[in-house]
Amino acid sequence: MDEIKQRAREILSTMSLEEKAAQLLQVSYAGLTRVQAEEYARIGVGSFLHVFGEDARHLQEIAVSNKKVPLLFGIDAVHGHCLNRKGTVFPSQLSMACTFDIALVEEAASATAKEVSADGLHWAFSPVLCLGRDIRWGRVGETFGEDKYLAGELGAAMVRGYQGKDCSEKGKILACAKHYIGYGEATGARDSYDAEMTYRKVKSELLPPFERAVEEGCATVMTSQGSISGTPCTVDEKLLKDILRGDVNFDGFVVTDWRIVGSLLFAQRVASTFEEASKLVAESGSDMIMAWPEFAAAAVALVKEGELSEQVLDEAVEHILVVKLKAGLFENPYKEQSSDIIGCVEHQELSKKLSRECVTLLKNDGILPLSKKGMKIAVVGAQAEAVRDMYGDWTYFSHPRPNIDAMPERPYCTLLEGLREVAGEDFEVVYEKGCNMRSEFDGGVEKAVLLAKHSDVVVFAFGDTIYEVGEHKDRAKAELTLSQKKLFEALTETGTPIVSVMIASKPLCISEVDEGSAALLTAFNPGAYGGVALAEVIFGKINPSGKLSISFPYHVGQQPTYYNHLPGWHADSYVDTPKEPLYVFGEGLSYTRFEYTDEFFDEDTLTLRVKVKNVGERTGKETVQVYFRDLVSSVITPVKQLIAFEKIQLEAGEEKEVTFLFSAKDFSLIDRKERRIAEKGEFEVMVGGSSKDEDLRKVRFTIKEDVVF
Ligand code: BGC
Repeated sequence: MDEIKQRAREILSTMSLEEKAAQLLQVSYAGLTRVQAEEYARIGVGSFLHVFGEDARHLQEIAVSNKKVPLLFGIDAVHGHCLNRKGTVFPSQLSMACTFDIALVEEAASATAKEVSADGLHWAFSPVLCLGRDIRWGRVGETFGEDKYLAGELGAAMVRGYQGKDCSEKGKILACAKHYIGYGEATGARDSYDAEMTYRKVKSELLPPFERAVEEGCATVMTSQGSISGTPCTVDEKLLKDILRGDVNFDGFVVTDWRIVGSLLFAQRVASTFEEASKLVAESGSDMIMAWPEFAAAAVALVKEGELSEQVLDEAVEHILVVKLKAGLFENPYKEQSSDIIGCVEHQELSKKLSRECVTLLKNDGILPLSKKGMKIAVVGAQAEAVRDMYGDWTYFSHPRPNIDAMPERPYCTLLEGLREVAGEDFEVVYEKGCNMRSEFDGGVEKAVLLAKHSDVVVFAFGDTIYEVGEHKDRAKAELTLSQKKLFEALTETGTPIVSVMIASKPLCISEVDEGSAALLTAFNPGAYGGVALAEVIFGKINPSGKLSISFPYHVGQQPTYYNHLPGWHADSYVDTPKEPLYVFGEGLSYTRFEYTDEFFDEDTLTLRVKVKNVGERTGKETVQVYFRDLVSSVITPVKQLIAFEKIQLEAGEEKEVTFLFSAKDFSLIDRKERRIAEKGEFEVMVGGSSKDEDLRKVRFTIKEDVVF
């Protein structure tokens, strides 16, 4: 047994039954009076969430002076430490994923860790490793998009950024891989609803990002509020014990999601009393119980009545103590507490850098970049002034005490401000809102049309708002609001070319905007500096390099639409809608062009080499993407699956050879016996600048023997 486990057991042996049960609680600070919070600290609960700075320090002092195990403070720092109003706001995960830049995502997480720990806190409930494969789901913007490999690599980068090599070091915090598992797969994209699927699918499609996070040492995992084929994830022993602890080798602790005990009782109805629900949760493999403090009394009573073995509590407490020991809490229960770093200039610059890399150009008939000096640019659409939709969800105005009408504090840059700043004296930028985002009636359309008629180009800013995004905010329709649609239609009738800019949490169904625009770009919720980043791309100060982390459907009826779907559809298309999405995963244009040649796959070493040349006129970045397909397999496998990518920069005329080294496991599948296996046979490897067939060059190779992992 290792030293840390030994120490954990020693501490455990000194704890009373009541102390053990309290250690399993995570209490929400936001809903408590100060006196109530102090009482929880005094009895030695395991953790608080949503507490900051001095308040956290005060509670820790109480716990420590009462000789209790030090408290762990958790916070939803999911794209920056932005539940604190001074914290740096990075782009949303969906937006960050468009960078395909592992190092940059790690840097953002590392900056977030510094801010979280400077606020006296130890733990971020991030990364989100659910997949975003159905845009009706309210939480798609919190994911890294639709692909398991991309989510795994970026999730792993975040874990490294938060925890570093040693999570007890200054400026380092614990990561939390969530929501385990299948949370984004619910039928009809209904939040926290049932997902109909097999464990084989779980292991094949949804587990890999969690496996990557655990490989990087991720200290905690949060359960999903949903269920899989009728079994709530939080009480699914196969998921939590056999797969997570057994197959994946997870050795941290599992925290339930928000008020799960209540859900089991009142929503999912798999228990009829608090005690029954508490027993179910405790025995199924969760360790810490979020926001249901009644659990402690129920657990104590159950043990005393002989209904629950104390051993179950011991195991859970041990998991928690091991993590607390690794985090160095017993040596130093207090984090740094130096607020200078929260929102510091260096982190603001990093946020800006990320926003620039997130901007994804989806269409350009040649109108961009805008370069003709003296041009009159009509900016139209309420999203041009949006601040909250630059920030996205999980910031201080949406959590923990929602106040979404509150105006964010500077620094930030709206699209309109960004366009004005970058245009300087060289262009004339005029603005007309044209419509309200939520209203069905169009007040300002006429004024906007008049302005558009007398301008050289229209920048149309559109999207969704924070009111339509997040938990409890799933959509059945994914089109633009009527007011935005009508405004756009009227603008197209003016004949003035339109550059459309989407500021939205996730893809929407916007084929009419695509058709009517000369250019189209997005960065989803691009962070506090999204406005300037978008403007720099529009005026060509920077060359866009974002690639889509998620596909855009034509129509909501196509959902889910993801690039790595299975083959076998009889019709292979709808009678009324194309089969492929409007824009697909991996797509994104540049102001230069890249050419791929000389692809070669060495079967002995499983190495792919390809040459990439910048054949355009300016320096640019390209994400070289590698996909594969198993030509014949024992179970149906995707038409293609991403297995590697590398973002490179090339000057005009420059050529580079890019090399990717694989192992047989990269080409494996989960078979009917739920084993991971690379099956012998022929494979196709595809390399190029997007997941579209026409952008990919193909080579074949053979695996000669089955390899079981
Ligand atoms: C969400 C989690 C979040 C937790 C704590 C839950 O409702 O599903 O993602 O970490 O609340 O705020």
